[in-house]
Amino acid sequence: MDLGLGGRRYLLTGASRGLGFATARALVEDGARVLLSARSRESVDAAVAALGGAPAASGVVADLADPGDAERLVEAATDRLGGVDGALVSVGGPAPGTVLGTAEEDWRAGVDSVLLGPLRLVRALVPHLGAGSVIAFVLSTSVREPLDGLAVSNGLRPGLAMTAKGLADELGPRGVRVVGLMPGTIATDRTATLYGEEGMARAAEGIPLRRVGQPEEFGRVAAFLLSPAASYVTGTMVAVDGGRLRTP
Ligand SMILES: NC(=O)c1ccc[n+]([C@@H]2O[C@H](COP(=O)([O-])OP(=O)(O)OC[C@H]3O[C@@H](n4cnc5c(N)ncnc54)[C@H](OP(=O)(O)O)[C@@H]3O)[C@@H](O)[C@H]2O)c1
Repeated sequence: MDLGLGGRRYLLTGASRGLGFATARALVEDGARVLLSARSRESVDAAVAALGGAPAASGVVADLADPGDAERLVEAATDRLGGVDGALVSVGGPAPGTVLGTAEEDWRAGVDSVLLGPLRLVRALVPHLGAGSVIAFVLSTSVREPLDGLAVSNGLRPGLAMTAKGLADELGPRGVRVVGLMPGTIATDRTATLYGEEGMARAAEGIPLRRVGQPEEFGRVAAFLLSPAASYVTGTMVAVDGGRLRTP
């Protein structure tokens, strides 16, 4: 199947590593052009180089938690790509902790990056999107089920999923799609730091496929949802979790 990605232009945030980078790679491999962003210059440059550089890939340093960066990022994307056909909105995950054990400043930092960061980006981007374009949010299975020790994620992701649903209603009449992705446990720097080797092995035991996912398994699903091949998919959350969620 041809996903129709050839020549299409995507902005990806939080994409120098992990799930965002895997999505950028899948898009570029199918002929799309990407502008990726993250906070550190070194990691952005390394990611762009790993994708073969211009014209397929370029990068911008931006922090989604910084209120000034969304407009700048969208401007860079429209300038360098000559327009935007879609965006993958990912940010670093919030601090771990329990509900009562998480300090207010960590809740606030989570709201700034996980909730307001994506919202600001979308606000800046929407005026540039035409019919056939798409926004995909990287969320978590915590949209549907709480994760142990990730109170901020459990508190914020369900709200962002409903925000994505509302946005799909608002943008659908213009032919713009909005989807959310719910990764389960995928082997990235974040999960290695959060769970360690033993924790990842334990997590695998609770997954029907009996293994954690690989970033490229996530990237391929995200690239499909961002592609014209998924033209009738909007307003929905897609799990990439090896079957772990207890809801269908
Ligand atoms: N991996 C999983 O199994 C899993 C499961 C559920 C949910 N998630 C969620 O999916 C998202 C991506 O996870 P991941 O595993 O890919 O994480 P990761 O390996 O830590 O990569 C995060 C990426 O985002 C960038 N980043 C971090 N904070 C940012 C910010 N404020 N603004 C812009 N870029 C930022 C990082 O680069 P810099 O540090 O240079 O900015 C990096 O490129 C996170 O929100 C995570 O909570 C992941």
